[in-house]
Amino acid sequence: MAVQQMDYDQAIAIIRNQITIQPTIGLVLGSGLGGLADAVSERVVIPYETIPGWPKSTVHGHHGQLVIGRLEGQPVIVQQGRAHFYEGYTPQEVTFPIRIMRMVGVQTLILTNAAGGLNPAYRVGDLMLFNDHINWIGMSGGNPLVGPNDERFGPRFLGMTHTYDRDLRRAARQAAAEAEVPLHEGVYVCISGPNFETPAEVRMLRALGADAVGMSTVHEVLVARHAGMQVMAFSGITNEAIDSVDSDLEASHEEVLDAGKILVPRLTAVLRGVLRVLA
Ligand code: HPA
Repeated sequence: MAVQQMDYDQAIAIIRNQITIQPTIGLVLGSGLGGLADAVSERVVIPYETIPGWPKSTVHGHHGQLVIGRLEGQPVIVQQGRAHFYEGYTPQEVTFPIRIMRMVGVQTLILTNAAGGLNPAYRVGDLMLFNDHINWIGMSGGNPLVGPNDERFGPRFLGMTHTYDRDLRRAARQAAAEAEVPLHEGVYVCISGPNFETPAEVRMLRALGADAVGMSTVHEVLVARHAGMQVMAFSGITNEAIDSVDSDLEASHEEVLDAGKILVPRLTAVLRGVLRVLA
């Protein structure tokens, strides 16, 4: 269903009526990573189901609420859980929250997700900072910017060379070094899901130059960049993608959530550091 102007107006009104802090930094927390929002102080919590037009996640491991408050003294709005294309939402519906964040005043958007490691050097529990992406869904049409362009947000044709902000990446490297958390930097490929990849698909995605694979984030990045936000994104590696049909292993959502337990403290340390650098 197309997003209507009325949906934006109603959602904004409901959020503005409840907040006293004006957030400028947005955070999106992916599968198993919602625990990061626990560190937010002076918090106001708004359940997604109370916001008209807001897509609800049906996935286990996603909380489904907005948390607005302060992290390292910075005014933040945190999406604790997100909706996905594979749940049946259109790319426009999936990214409705990003436009709302922009309208609420967010200038810097930090996204996180759970991802499979394609790069043979990546291990479960590692963090990868995005330096680029491959939009496997979007390149063939599943793109939230398809349709009439809303000029209030941004241009029809969007350049994508400087998608992942250089200064923010520098801040992430500095924060990771200070927290003594190893940080890879690489390319994320977004597939539709909900199934995990076949071994042949894993080998293909690796050959294309992707380091991590997942089912989210890239739609949100497009809409954020279209609206002029600075963007940074992290994958938490929750499993090593299986590249052989002779493997005894199989990918599962349980291992994704289990790895979240290792990843949350690492991501929390890096993100706190980034927020300190941004201050
Ligand atoms: N593939 C796609 N999405 C994922 C994976 C994966 O291996 N792990 C976590 N999300």
